Amino acid sequence: MATNRTFTMVKPDAFGAGNAGAILKMIEEAGFKIVALKATKLSSDLAGKFYEVHKERPFYNDLVSYMSSGPIIAAILEKDNAVEDFRKLIGATNPADAAEGTIRKIFAKSIEANAVHGSDSDENAAIEGSFFFSQAERVI
Ligand code: TYD
Repeated sequence: MATNRTFTMVKPDAFGAGNAGAILKMIEEAGFKIVALKATKLSSDLAGKFYEVHKERPFYNDLVSYMSSGPIIAAILEKDNAVEDFRKLIGATNPADAAEGTIRKIFAKSIEANAVHGSDSDENAAIEGSFFFSQAERVI
């Protein structure tokens, strides 16, 4: 995957609240092009693998059960400086600390149910995109 791409998920809280469309609209209006998109539901096994880097953290088990608690949207996004610009658009991990106007400030319920995921590096964007999408599913 090119380094002008990032990976995102609309998490179960935001999807369940019917906010997926509004979030995708904000993402497109911020200049991101949707390269791949699907609705799916993670098993706890897959959620555990996705967040394996946090395996030793105290919040890991809760995070895995939360992320497998309902449907999500997974997407690959393209824009110059995608990873950094997308992290700015979503705001801080804890919505209480997120800047006004960011997706997490507007839609997140808590530090765990924080509405969206955004990759934290080009390397992880490529790994996470490949976790959800085959080459053939990246239509553009
Ligand atoms: P992290 O990678 O630190 O945050 P971000 O998603 O902003 O890159 O953490 C991954 C997810 O783990 C985070 O989105 C929500 C959850 N989490 C908790 O539930 N409790 C916590 O204390 C932290 C730091 C994260």
